[in-house]
Amino acid sequence: MPIVNLQKDIEIEIRRVRIDDISAIAAIEKNSYPDPWSVKMFERELQLEFSNFFAVIKDREIIGYVCFWTVSDEAQITNITVKEKFRRKGLGSRIMKYIINFAKAIEIKKMFLEVRASNYPALKLYEKFGFQEIDVRKRYYSNSDDAVIMSKIL
Ligand SMILES: CC(C)(COP(=O)(O)OP(=O)(O)OC[C@H]1O[C@@H](n2cnc3c(N)ncnc32)[C@H](O)[C@@H]1OP(=O)(O)O)[C@@H](O)C(=O)NCCC(=O)NCCS
Repeated sequence: MPIVNLQKDIEIEIRRVRIDDISAIAAIEKNSYPDPWSVKMFERELQLEFSNFFAVIKDREIIGYVCFWTVSDEAQITNITVKEKFRRKGLGSRIMKYIINFAKAIEIKKMFLEVRASNYPALKLYEKFGFQEIDVRKRYYSNSDDAVIMSKIL
């Protein structure tokens, strides 16, 4: 008998972040990182021409977001976050698919990101999408965690 996947995808919308989304995003951020981005930092992303900032919406609630910079034919993922209670439901993967397709559509050739060496869920997510470690910055973060630099050719 064929294996049927009965787990239905959560219905979401991915759209560009607007200024009035920032307080909800900053609250998720505060709950997700030891050194969260501030409201000001998020607001700045909306001003930057080369920054692409998207929110993931479910039933009008923001449940995740992603920010990446595109310069020339390269992209740098600067933030990807799913609200805690929605993790491990495939949303991080859907965001990754969305931004990889977006990047391909605007002829980005290489994507980069930086992740804490201790952030196992994120490392796994990026590996799943074909990102490979290219460098390690020792004791890069405030708590002395190493930063792993990863890249993917599109
Ligand atoms: C990293 C993050 C975005 C992943 O989002 P998510 O919606 O949970 O991801 P998915 O459910 O799509 O999982 C994708 C893959 O990541 C890996 N993964 C995710 N969470 C994991 C965990 N807790 N333990 C082990 N592997 C995990 C798995 O390989 C998973 O693939 P699988 O479901 O096929 O096994 C989410 O954990 C998060 O927001 N973390 C806090 C913020 C953060 O650290 N962001 C990254 C900064 S660099």
